[in-house]
Amino acid sequence: MAAQSNNVIEVKNVVKKFGDFTALNNVSFTIKEGELFGLLGPNGAGKTTMINLILGLLKVTSGTIIIDREDISRNPERIKKIIGMMTQETVVEPDLTAKQNLELFARLYGLSEAEMSKRVSEALKDANLEDKANVRAGTFSGGMQRRLELVKSMVNVPKILILDEPTTGLDVQNRVDMWKRIRELSKRGVTIIMTTQYLEEADSLCERVAVIDHGEVKAIGTPLELKKQVATKPILEIFAKADVLDSIAEIIRVKYKLKPEILGEKLLAEISGDTASVVSGIMKETSKRKIEIYSISSRLPTMDDVFIKLTGSSLRDTTSGTYESTRSKMMTRR
Ligand SMILES: Nc1ncnc2c1ncn2[C@@H]1O[C@H](COP(=O)(O)OP(=O)(O)OP(=O)(O)O)[C@@H](O)[C@H]1O
Ligand SMILES: [Mg+2]
Repeated sequence: MAAQSNNVIEVKNVVKKFGDFTALNNVSFTIKEGELFGLLGPNGAGKTTMINLILGLLKVTSGTIIIDREDISRNPERIKKIIGMMTQETVVEPDLTAKQNLELFARLYGLSEAEMSKRVSEALKDANLEDKANVRAGTFSGGMQRRLELVKSMVNVPKILILDEPTTGLDVQNRVDMWKRIRELSKRGVTIIMTTQYLEEADSLCERVAVIDHGEVKAIGTPLELKKQVATKPILEIFAKADVLDSIAEIIRVKYKLKPEILGEKLLAEISGDTASVVSGIMKETSKRKIEIYSISSRLPTMDDVFIKLTGSSLRDTTSGTYESTRSKMMTRR
């Protein structure tokens, strides 16, 4: 017999169809115990569908999902008990207080009165909502509501925590706060699977990421592995007025044999050869020809580049509506 793996979630060849529409097409991935795993993809990629399948709220068309060594179709009730969940939409009960929201949830999980009281006060403390315990949750800011939901998802002390777009719609400050909280839970050993449409979030928070687009997994790995996979060469980045970029591109093509791509007021090209001499050579040449450049630099590939490459939308395709809308929803780098 094979040695037991420490995989907590195993998704194997999962297909999910809604009528004729294939929302997930042959999706496979595994998540190890204690891992902080991200499903990264744009709107409509299939992230929530995948989460709902893991939770047993939807049934697979084909394929299997094994959680904690058990096929979810065999024992859905046991599996539900070991999973905590924060949904994409905010679902706090607006007319109940923060405390009552937590108590309601604890009762659903069948916690005893004593246990409930202990866990609820811990949760209020964790969420920095102790002073708001008896205030109606409907009056809370978006950030406070999400904090309440996060601790609520942990009330039954689950082994696995699922967070569906935990930071979408939050301002920068609350997003950073949420990241801190998620990291904290991960350090405590909770296995976390989260979805995100933010490249930056996947990059800085998740230990491993599956890039998902149109229901298909395009790549899986650590953020660094994904970046290495995309390009080993540094990327030249030049900002200039759109109308002069063409002549800069021409210099780069002819003199350095690179393949520049223009994106609005930006030019990108993978650098081959010595980076410093390419950059300084271009600066000299453009200055000689009095071509005005805002900035020129070289950098390593980012998750943005990874996404563009993996989803098949090359820089050339940016004028197409679908790609543009995908891109605009993605957080820009830095
Ligand atoms: N119950 C359903 N019936 C029909 N189609 C559905 C259903 N649920 C989801 N879909 C479709 O499946 C695709 C994937 O949807 P899903 O909600 O999983 O995407 P998502 O990655 O979570 O997107 P978002 O970032 O917008 O939340 C979409 O095209 C959606 O319209
Ligand atoms: Mg979703």
